[in-house]
Amino acid sequence: MTQIRIFDTTLRDGEQAPGFSMTPESKLRMARALAALKVDVIEAGFAASSPKDAQSIMEIAAAVEGPIICSLSRATRGDILASASALAPATRKRCHIFIGTSPLHREAKLHMSREQVLEAIRASVAFAREHFEDIEFSAEDAIRTERDYLVEALSVAAAEGATTLNVPDTVGYTTPEEIYELFCHLDRHVARNGDTILSTHCHDDLGMAVANSLAAVRGGARQVECAMNGIGERAGNCALEDVVMALRTRAAVYEATTGVDTTKIIAASRTLAQITNTPPPRNKSIVGANAFAHESGIHQHGVLQNRATYEIIKPEDIGLSTDGIVLGKHSGRHALAAKAKALGHVLEGETLDHVFASFKALADEIGIVDTARLVALLSEAKTHRPRALWKLSKLDIRAPVAANAWPVARVELEHGERGRVTDVASAPGALDGAFAAVSQMIGVDARVDSIDMQYIAADRDEAPADGQGASVLVDMTVEVDGEIFAGRARARDILPCCVSAYIDAVSNAQAVRELRQRNEQKVAAA
Ligand code: KIV
Ligand code: ZN
Repeated sequence: MTQIRIFDTTLRDGEQAPGFSMTPESKLRMARALAALKVDVIEAGFAASSPKDAQSIMEIAAAVEGPIICSLSRATRGDILASASALAPATRKRCHIFIGTSPLHREAKLHMSREQVLEAIRASVAFAREHFEDIEFSAEDAIRTERDYLVEALSVAAAEGATTLNVPDTVGYTTPEEIYELFCHLDRHVARNGDTILSTHCHDDLGMAVANSLAAVRGGARQVECAMNGIGERAGNCALEDVVMALRTRAAVYEATTGVDTTKIIAASRTLAQITNTPPPRNKSIVGANAFAHESGIHQHGVLQNRATYEIIKPEDIGLSTDGIVLGKHSGRHALAAKAKALGHVLEGETLDHVFASFKALADEIGIVDTARLVALLSEAKTHRPRALWKLSKLDIRAPVAANAWPVARVELEHGERGRVTDVASAPGALDGAFAAVSQMIGVDARVDSIDMQYIAADRDEAPADGQGASVLVDMTVEVDGEIFAGRARARDILPCCVSAYIDAVSNAQAVRELRQRNEQKVAAA
């Protein structure tokens, strides 16, 4: 098996894209997650781009052990010196020098001739050698560079001491067939010694970054540049999780492997999502919320018999713990019975028919039937009485203008058995106050882990006469005693919607907790 180096550029190419900028503290947190993932190289930033970026690279260089820490530099002495000083504390460091080599970049951006660009490569790599052992050279826009000239540019960099020769598809233009053929050609023609490797860096403008990176590996690339959750300039970079899991899952095809600890993928992806406030799309491969979730009856039946029927990766291999079954309007009896069994209820015969009918009606109305609602359904079936759930009935938030006064939230909840209950709480944030009041009433202390909000605009043709009709959909996760529970709500206004989603999530936590207690009591009594 050939060992492929994983060069992570989440903190450089990823961070420079709109919406993904990170504070130095967040960059350090992410660098630690990447080190736990055991990537080979962390590109921590572009030292010459700003004093803050230089400072952040230095902090990462001082604190993060394991991977090589790298800083990007243009082909100038000033940039290389900025990288050298930012990387001074690193035990293992790399200088990454780039310059545009395509006719478009030479003429429109650099105003340099072919010879001048070659000279800049020669001079910059030679200068970097005075400060670094490990140098990477990137021929920016390599894919649109004349082939012979690209061979020449990479050979010059190698002759001066660059040990990684990177061939970026800067604008995400290439195809798997084309890049495979290019790497075969470069592998044969670039003059270099045995320790100097070719590297691929693909952007996703045509949605082919991962496929192109894998094709480059088949063509001879020994390093893949990628970013967590696929973030990066414009449509992003090759997604780290995808390329790593493709190499692992199809090892026989690529005859290649990486040193990444794949069980840390979900943790790194979630850290990035938290830091950037941008979760990957639900249907994102490997790390999206739906990647290991099954709602349709046929799929659930298959997965319950044997997960391999509809899954090619074990969730635990990427550090995810889930049974994968989501109960919704497409789910079948098998899944309902299996979920009920996991909650300690055996559903068979007429009871199963009856609960299944109520479940379908509920799923049609609310979409996903979570644990609290399922427990309510099961208890209704047993006692023939509707089980009460908490509902928001009034929310009053007073947010004073004075900087040192905290907002106060007064929340009224309604419960089928306990009637109306009201409580008041105050916190630095208005919503935090409302959440605290809810927790006091329901008796579950929770910490909000994530809030994902969507504004659903009204359909112009169907909007009511007052012009309203839009709504907000909130998906929330909360942490209770180290466990994560989800909640969701749809409402007209943001604040009540967030509070309802919180009520839903803590009710789920409470339902699971009660169920566990009942099961423990049963075991103790037996
Ligand atoms: O896309 C690109 O060309 C780059 C280089 C700086 C490596 O990010
Ligand atoms: Zn790039």
